[in-house]
Amino acid sequence: MSYQNILSATKDGITTITINRPNKLNALNKDTIQELHDAFKEANKDKNTKVIIVTGSGEKAFVAGADISEFADFNVENGGKLAAKGQELLFDYVANLSTPVIAAVNGFALGGGLELAMACHFRVASDNAKMGLPEVSLGVIPGYGGTQRLPQLVGKGRAMEMIMTAGMIDAETAKSYGLVNHVTTQEELLSLCEKIAGKIMRNSSVAIKAAIKAVNANYKDGVNGFEVEIKQFGKCFGTEDFTEGTTAFLEKRKAEFPGK
Ligand code: COA
Repeated sequence: MSYQNILSATKDGITTITINRPNKLNALNKDTIQELHDAFKEANKDKNTKVIIVTGSGEKAFVAGADISEFADFNVENGGKLAAKGQELLFDYVANLSTPVIAAVNGFALGGGLELAMACHFRVASDNAKMGLPEVSLGVIPGYGGTQRLPQLVGKGRAMEMIMTAGMIDAETAKSYGLVNHVTTQEELLSLCEKIAGKIMRNSSVAIKAAIKAVNANYKDGVNGFEVEIKQFGKCFGTEDFTEGTTAFLEKRKAEFPGK
């Protein structure tokens, strides 16, 4: 598939999706959101993709937010639709993807950019990264899940302060908040993400898919996460990966998971 605003490349089990509008600090316009949806969908279907990494092109930004020029003249109805469509196509979509998604936060992750990073399964940042939800400085609130995912990741008090001040935090602060898992140099960001992806790929993709479902269930209204865990746990016993994993352990050899 060919894209105008993003790049997607698959190598050694990893699909790297790069948001490629460096002149606009990779701001998410409508077309970019649609292309990201298509690329994530494609990668999730692809048998050769075990892990997805999403990053921004250039040295300055992961994503500097939703494209402000596209919504400056919106009314109440348009605004609601923008948020709903974005969440459906990208943010909730990524959060619920069965393939692990790592955000490689290589610079500014603001507004929709931080919301995209937070929708990913976890985040690694370069030491120049700056993160924040500046929406109230524009007279709106985060609309791509930021008011929900930020408190889940950093706690209510820190999220309230970040949202109300519209300020930015640096990568080390983000790490101390638990917003990113690791901080490294910009040069080593992708290789660190690939190293972590390598560790993920050694494990059963079927079990990982079940684990994502169970963890996410904790954050869904009206869903009992413990029940989802019990169901997913039980289902694992019917998979070829489980047979291989346990047999390999007992035979004292490395498991070769068929991914079924
Ligand atoms: N939407 C649309 N365009 C954006 C953008 C966004 N969210 N963020 C940056 N850009 C564009 C700028 O308009 C500029 O375009 P131009 O060269 O055609 O004028 C280009 O990207 C470079 O940005 P610039 O502001 O010149 O870079 P900077 O280094 O001076 O500042 C930021 C960097 C991130 C501090 C600043 O761009 C910014 O505050 N962006 C908006 C962040 C935001 O509020 N995001 C939440 C949106 S809901």
